Amino acid sequence: MLTDTLFSQVALLFAVGERQKYKAIVKALPQLVENSKFDEIGNLLVSCGSFQVANNFKDIISFFRGNHDKISKIVEIGTFNFASSTLINLLKPEEAIFYGFDNWELGGTKARLIAEWRCRSFPNSHVITGHPLSSSIDIRNLDNTNMLLIDGHHSFRSTLKDSKCFSFLTDGATIFFHDCGLGNRIWGCFWAYYVLQKYNVITPYDGRFENYIARVDAREKPNVKPGEKPEIEFAIGKFRKDEFVKRERLLCDPAFLWQEVCERFEIRPGLDINSQSQTWDELFSDRI
Ligand SMILES: C[S@@+](CC[C@H](N)C(=O)[O-])C[C@H]1O[C@@H](n2cnc3c(N)ncnc32)[C@H](O)[C@@H]1O
Repeated sequence: MLTDTLFSQVALLFAVGERQKYKAIVKALPQLVENSKFDEIGNLLVSCGSFQVANNFKDIISFFRGNHDKISKIVEIGTFNFASSTLINLLKPEEAIFYGFDNWELGGTKARLIAEWRCRSFPNSHVITGHPLSSSIDIRNLDNTNMLLIDGHHSFRSTLKDSKCFSFLTDGATIFFHDCGLGNRIWGCFWAYYVLQKYNVITPYDGRFENYIARVDAREKPNVKPGEKPEIEFAIGKFRKDEFVKRERLLCDPAFLWQEVCERFEIRPGLDINSQSQTWDELFSDRI
């Protein structure tokens, strides 16, 4: 009994400490954003549990610098404990609506409670359990979303499934695909980004992404040391609704599309389209 009481008191003190720490982070971030202190922003968000690095924050911040007033509805798939979501919520116009989805496959109840609590610090911000295509929210609420961040399961199959959400995007919406860097490990979403570009469902956001796909050469392993992050982490695309409507059925056939990817890049046959990532050697070893 005494142990239970002691435990709840320690848990309460811990929760109060965490809340104070988060409030201090939210207070400090705007000034750091203003002064483009990307490393410090990265460190603060990592301290509240983010998976991402400074490169990503730079992309998100510069996107909002150029598009702030145009953004009215944002969906993030994979909100986890609301770290990347914190930055997005600080940058978005107050009246813009944010929906962060997570099935809590990673992080479980603890991440859910943290995200639900943190989201209350921001106006028009919601954390929802599940995926936009299967949650308690009426999907019509998501209509006219003009910014989508995909940072969920990362496999080829699941990223293509995420692309079904494009039906609620406006034409020209911006889509951020996290973990699309070319390193010693390539995530399934990179190949999904390739397919979506190939069929013109998205066009590259800017010059950095124009020839990005062409840089995959099975004979040339990227010069990224193990543990080092690649130069690009978010691949960013602009959505084309007319092409999406034409290709919607094709996007429901991941096995066929994976075959196309394997043939185009000469990827070793038999790799699992459900796995989140593969190393360069696993993808290409017997081709070299
Ligand atoms: C890498 S974490 C996201 C990190 C977060 N965006 C950040 O930067 O701090 C990926 C999240 O996606 C969630 N997830 C995986 N598959 C999902 C799915 N099908 N639907 C919703 N969430 C999913 C996981 O539970 C996990 O919390």
